[in-house]
Amino acid sequence: MQIVRGIKPLRRLIRRAKKQGKTIGFVPTMGALHEGHLSLIRAAKVGNDLVAVSIFVNPIQFNRKTDLAAYPRPLRQDIRLCKKSGVDFLFIPSVKTMYPAGFQTICEVLELSRPWEGFFRPGHFRGVTTVVAKLLNLVQPDTAYFGEKDFQQAAIIRRMVRDLNVDVRIKVLPTIREKDGLAMSSRNRLLPSELRRPSRTLFLALQEGRRLIESGERRRSVVERRMRSMIRTIPRSRLEYCVLVDPAGLRRVPSIKGEVVALLAVWVGSTRLIDAMRIRPRRTTRMR
Ligand code: PAJ
Repeated sequence: MQIVRGIKPLRRLIRRAKKQGKTIGFVPTMGALHEGHLSLIRAAKVGNDLVAVSIFVNPIQFNRKTDLAAYPRPLRQDIRLCKKSGVDFLFIPSVKTMYPAGFQTICEVLELSRPWEGFFRPGHFRGVTTVVAKLLNLVQPDTAYFGEKDFQQAAIIRRMVRDLNVDVRIKVLPTIREKDGLAMSSRNRLLPSELRRPSRTLFLALQEGRRLIESGERRRSVVERRMRSMIRTIPRSRLEYCVLVDPAGLRRVPSIKGEVVALLAVWVGSTRLIDAMRIRPRRTTRMR
């Protein structure tokens, strides 16, 4: 595994790989790697000749300084995990490398970035799309891999790639969960132990939403209300949003007709957790 920190050595590696006709799969991350990240790396490994991973805690996507400061950075362990997973190129740039003095260009997906995460974390997605645009330019992968847990992020990146004609295929893969259902996240390790178990209620709420829809409930508000009332039982929790939206536009559906996505963001203690689940209503069989 080659570890590179600078732009020039990265470009050199990429150029050489391309010259040899190798395909590149890319997994951008902020480190503190867990099974969720590793599932993306494995998919990249299967689908490409070479796998590139980036670890960069991107300051411009953090809307709160305390969150940036608290973000876990177990770099040695991350490097070990990447090596073990067969990563070929590991890019670990510094903030100065990515944002040298004078940096002033942003990339913003206007509509899809407005609601939900965008509303509660102003400027967050602008930071994400700017760094992902830079990383895609640098690595020039054939395919880049993202997780469905960050559903809105994935939708925004797809839109950006389409709008800017970036020559890359975007793959979005299912959420990897802990045994009890809690979506794996680098932030889970910030949860105090007494709040860890109750946090699984987020997953239970998503499952309950799915159960209601699959058993024929078509009223969005009924499903949302049920999910919210479950989430409110988590001690020291504060709900930011829990909504059913259409998977393409991320707008709340008037009623449940086709596939929807349940999106939620909840503070548990001083940790902010998000999750998402695609839900497809069962087709009702008509009696003759
Ligand atoms: P990070 O939170 O490190 O996540 C990196 C990738 O792993 C994202 O595509 C995310 O959706 C995916 N991921 C996280 N948890 C997952 C899980 N439990 N199952 C499956 N995939 C999961 O998302 C970011 O970093 C940043 O915003 C980034 C895109 C790197 C830009 O800075």
